[in-house]
Amino acid sequence: MNEVIQLLQSHRSIRKFTDDEIPQEALNELIKCGQSAATSSFIQACTVIQVEDKTKRDELVVLGGNQPYIASAARFLVFCADMNRHQLACNIHQAEMQSGFTEQFITATVDCALFAQNVITAAQSLGIQGVYIGGIRNQIQAVTDLLELPQLVYPVFGMCLGYPAQNPEVKPRLPLSVVLKKDSYYDESDPATIRDYDEQVREYYRTRTGGNKDTAWSEQISEMLVKEVRPHMLEYLKSQGYLLK
Ligand SMILES: Cc1cc2nc3c(=O)[nH]c(=O)nc-3n(C[C@H](O)[C@H](O)[C@H](O)COP(=O)(O)O)c2cc1C
Repeated sequence: MNEVIQLLQSHRSIRKFTDDEIPQEALNELIKCGQSAATSSFIQACTVIQVEDKTKRDELVVLGGNQPYIASAARFLVFCADMNRHQLACNIHQAEMQSGFTEQFITATVDCALFAQNVITAAQSLGIQGVYIGGIRNQIQAVTDLLELPQLVYPVFGMCLGYPAQNPEVKPRLPLSVVLKKDSYYDESDPATIRDYDEQVREYYRTRTGGNKDTAWSEQISEMLVKEVRPHMLEYLKSQGYLLK
């Protein structure tokens, strides 16, 4: 394995950080790595809000579901899907922009995810690590107001970045045969493979928690997916000008 593959396969989310700062110049380089990601039809639909204001950070801790690392990380970034500036581009050419298409929601959101994953991977190469924060969608309208996001801009997720003060084990992923299919989707061995994987995940949690938790992957997923998930999202996205057609 080369260094890049080793780096990618050693990813862990980090939620405890040292007090070391990330210089602005280093952060700028990470953001440029994000910008280097592929982008649907060259739309470049990701805008990052770097949250420095302490009061806003503290507020985001609460809005994000009381996740204290939003405040303790050296940097906190909010990745926004942004089709607002495209309106500016259309205005330059007196073209009337057609917005609200589901396809635009997908492309802008995918752009953001690719951008962010480049940022966190580049960060990892500098010894900086972190965690994505989907929790900011718990109270997404309040986050939108706090960051003064206009129409056609929505916060997809946040990201804490800092120097790690913990060293968790790598979380085992699904076996390759479950995620890599050849020529068609169905594979009769999936249920048995998932059961084997469940045992691996139980063991991972046992080790990580000193025996306090031993939840299987399928158990975790089945508990999660019987509940509603952020049912406010559809109305919110419509109100920001997405998912209208
Ligand atoms: C889009 C996204 C949102 C996430 N949101 C949160 C979050 O709000 N809080 C948190 O602690 N972890 C969050 N995570 C981290 C996941 O829980 C984590 O990636 C997953 O459990 C796998 O663990 P690993 O990253 O250590 O391999 C998020 C991950 C992604 C990709």
